[in-house]
Amino acid sequence: MNLIRKFEPADFPRVIEIEKQVFNEHDPFFYMQFYETCSDGFIVAEVNGIIVGFVVGFLASQMTGRIFSLAVHPAYQNRRLGSALLNAVIEVFRGVGVSEVILEARLSNVKAMKFYERHGFKKTGVVAKYYNDGESACMMRLEIQAG
Ligand SMILES: CC(C)(COP(=O)(O)OP(=O)(O)OC[C@H]1O[C@@H](n2cnc3c(N)ncnc32)[C@H](O)[C@@H]1OP(=O)(O)O)[C@@H](O)C(=O)NCCC(=O)NCCS
Repeated sequence: MNLIRKFEPADFPRVIEIEKQVFNEHDPFFYMQFYETCSDGFIVAEVNGIIVGFVVGFLASQMTGRIFSLAVHPAYQNRRLGSALLNAVIEVFRGVGVSEVILEARLSNVKAMKFYERHGFKKTGVVAKYYNDGESACMMRLEIQAG
């Protein structure tokens, strides 16, 4: 059974395991910080009781929701779980009156950029050498209507 629900502290080890497998670039400390400061935007996907993906969104300003990270364990990708997580965090943003959602993806991450475009995001620009390893980021934006 698939379940999309809010992150709970007991999910932490599994979220960090997926983070390491998928990105391996964020300090686990950030995730606990997000839980403590904006827990509504920290959402997980569970399949048969196992955490297989997560999204972390926070309010960058009153009008702007920002997605910090979105990941689905490779063995569970292409089952619409990433879409369900993205839609769930967008609903949280909509509920608090946000009018735009922004995020960035590595320029080499064609799959992620296609995924976000399919969900209505538009590319808004490139930030050179955004990542620690020198790779540039593609900035993306979605306009949303208040709920
Ligand atoms: C990006 C990511 C979150 C998407 O998660 P996912 O669970 O695979 O997403 P979905 O299954 O909802 O959709 C993925 C793709 O599979 C396709 N798909 C899903 N189910 C399908 C089905 N039943 N039949 C055909 N195609 C299907 C979707 O059309 C989509 O195609 P796209 O690549 O053209 O967008 C995931 O690939 C991931 O974790 N990537 C690594 C981390 C990352 O890049 N994160 C984003 C940057 S923050």
